[in-house]
This record gives sequence, structure tokens and C-alpha cells, in this order.
Amino acid sequence: MSISQPFTTSSFALNGIRDDVRDIGASLIREVAHLGMGRDNIVPLWFGEPDQPTPEFIRKAAIAALEAGDTFYQPNRGITPLRDALADYGNRLYGTSLAAGNITVTVSGLNALMIAMQSILKAGDRLVTTAPIWPNIVAMPKVLGAHVATVPLRVGKAGDIGWQLDIDELITACTPDTRAILINSPNNPTGWVMPADDQKRLVEFATERGIWLIADEVYARLIYDGSEAAPSFVPYVTDDTRIMVINSFSKSWAMTGWRLGWITAPCGVGDQLEKLMEFNVSCPAGFVQQAGIAAVTQGEDFVAQSRARYQRARAAIIERLRDMNRIHLPRADGAFYAFFRVEGVDDTLAFAKDLLLSKGIGLAPGEAFGPEGAGHIRACYAVSEGRIHKAMDGLAKFLKR
Ligand SMILES: Cc1ncc(COP(=O)(O)O)c(C=O)c1O
Repeated sequence: MSISQPFTTSSFALNGIRDDVRDIGASLIREVAHLGMGRDNIVPLWFGEPDQPTPEFIRKAAIAALEAGDTFYQPNRGITPLRDALADYGNRLYGTSLAAGNITVTVSGLNALMIAMQSILKAGDRLVTTAPIWPNIVAMPKVLGAHVATVPLRVGKAGDIGWQLDIDELITACTPDTRAILINSPNNPTGWVMPADDQKRLVEFATERGIWLIADEVYARLIYDGSEAAPSFVPYVTDDTRIMVINSFSKSWAMTGWRLGWITAPCGVGDQLEKLMEFNVSCPAGFVQQAGIAAVTQGEDFVAQSRARYQRARAAIIERLRDMNRIHLPRADGAFYAFFRVEGVDDTLAFAKDLLLSKGIGLAPGEAFGPEGAGHIRACYAVSEGRIHKAMDGLAKFLKR
């Protein structure tokens, strides 16, 4: 027998893998993307990333670090200059008094989420979150043997108020075995932004009950109501609350491929996160952290320009989608996604594959974001207006067939 035979669907080896892991389904977004990758003339709006490369001043910082020989292992929680810079960044944005002790640098937002969850969730615990939601947020607790309960975001009936969360429903969903609440705001896929009053109420409730709050704020800077940043849980992070805020360089500084993120947590908690960093990834790469310092200390103009660019793309996609009879697009003030319902379409995976094969337009099926996403489609609008119009022309023609 060869030592590198591939797995079959029921091999001795495969049967030894944990059920929790085997039960996690493959990404439906990737299922559509794999069908389209390598084809010519595709307009891909399926993944959540800007269509432009990382700005030159950030790339140059990494190149300079590499040329200077910055190729060694680093401290588990990140280098002090980056942790200082991230504390300053938080303080500038939110008027807080964070210090390096509050910051743990991670290898991406995803790694930050996993480390945060590993530090508080054990098998059998319950995590409550909203839905539709980015699928990784539901899969990661399951890898740890925890259960996930979801509370639906709903589209408000009166006027154009868009996606809403009933905060009482979320609170009621927190049974005695609930160990954590995860709030992703601005939200992927809906663009929903949690109002500051609801954040305050949730902090009070969670603190009283001893429940951890994990706030996924990777889209914090992508908000279109004129503010610099969405309402945040960062100001509530103290030694007397149980809050960890997840952030990332991916979306605000167009650095998806670099894999750099951070956690803002109460000071003592960071020492525990440090151990988990050692066992998961050891440390973030040194030259990548130098790029992070450039982004966070010199990147405000870039953040403002990107937001203005996405705001134009957002206006264009809203206008085009609202012109199409069968499309219902609820209002959303954050992130960079249009999440809309297509009348008469239940199976949006089949719809997305058909649209891709016949018109070359790559969108993400709503089912990828849980049953609550069924009947919806997600389009990432962090692309040029030209691409938006090309995608919308194709979609309009497809709907008229
Ligand atoms: C809600 C949410 N959280 C976290 C992430 C992780 O981003 P990254 O791992 O690139 O930092 C993403 C990426 O799409 C996301 O949508």
C-alpha cells in the first residue's frame, strides 16, 4: 500500500477524525467560486475583500524589514511597538486609555477569534450570536465542542430602517449554560450596525450574568453615516468586564493576504491569550508586523479614501439593485456588502451557479450564512464602479430571462 493514498469517504483514517470536525460542511461561497476560478471575464463579487492591492507605503515597510533581516521568531503577543501603536490607535478613535497590555497581536482576525474562543469556551458551552452570520463564526465554536444558538436579524417593517436586532430576544436566548455572546457589527453579510444604546444594555446584562462578550469589529471603519468608526465595545474593555474585541488589518487597510489582526482585552487576560498564541501559531511574522505599524500610524488617509470609494460603489449598487423589480435590498450602514432577496428564488446556491455560468457574475449564496440567509444573495461592493455596473448589467439581464 502506498503511504500517501487519498482519503476515501469511509477510510479507517477518516473515521478517526472527530465527528464535530467532519460534520462541518464545505463553504458554499467557495463552491460557487471554484466553479468560476480560471474562467475568463468573470466579475467576482463573492469574497469579502477589496479589489485593490495593499497601498505602497505599507508594502514598502515590509520590504524594508525583510531586507534588514527581520526573519526570526517574534514575541507571542506581537512586538511592543505595534502593540503600543494599536493602543494609541484605539485611544485616538474611541477616547479610551488603552495600553500595550490590552493588546494581543494575532495572525489575522480569524486567528484572533479562535484564540478568544479557545480561552473561554469548553465542550458543552453555549455561544449566542445573530444570524445570518459569517459561517466561520458558527463553525469555530463547534470545533471546540461548544453549541451555537442564533437570534435572527430581521428587516424592519416601518420605512427603510433595514436590518434590526431585537435585543430582548438576544437576552432571552442566553440560557444558564451560555458562556459567550458574539456580536459582529458592522455585520457580514447584512451590513447591520449595532446601535450604541444596545451595546450598553448588552454590556450591563453580560457583566451581571458573567457572560463573555466577543465583539467582532473587523469592519469597524467601514461605516457610511459620516462617522469615523462604528459604535464599538472597545470603551467597555476593563478588568471589571468580560469583553474581547476582535480586529483585523484585512478590511480597513486592504491587507487580506497578510494575515494580521489583534485582540483588545482586559490586561490580565492577555497573558492567557499569549499562551494560546504559542500553541496555535507561535507569533505573527516580524516583517508583517512592521507593515502593520505603517498601516496603523500612517494609514488614516488611506482608510478615508477607501471609505469614500466604497461609499460611491455602495450608492451605485443600491441604485441599480433598487431598480430591479424582483430585488429587495434592506438598508444597511456598514461593512461592504449588499445582502438582498430575490423574489421567487429559494435555492440561491443554484441561482448563484447559474448566474456565474451564464453571465460571468460571481455572487455569494445566502445559504452560506445559515438558514436565516436563505433566499438572499451577497455582493461585495469593495470594487470599482465599473465592475459594479458590469455585474448589475449581467444580473438585470439574467433576471429578465
Ligand atoms: C465577520 C468577519 N470576521 C472576521 C473575519 C476575518 O478576517 P481576517 O481573518 O482576514 O482578518 C472576516 C473575514 O471575512 C469577517 O467577515
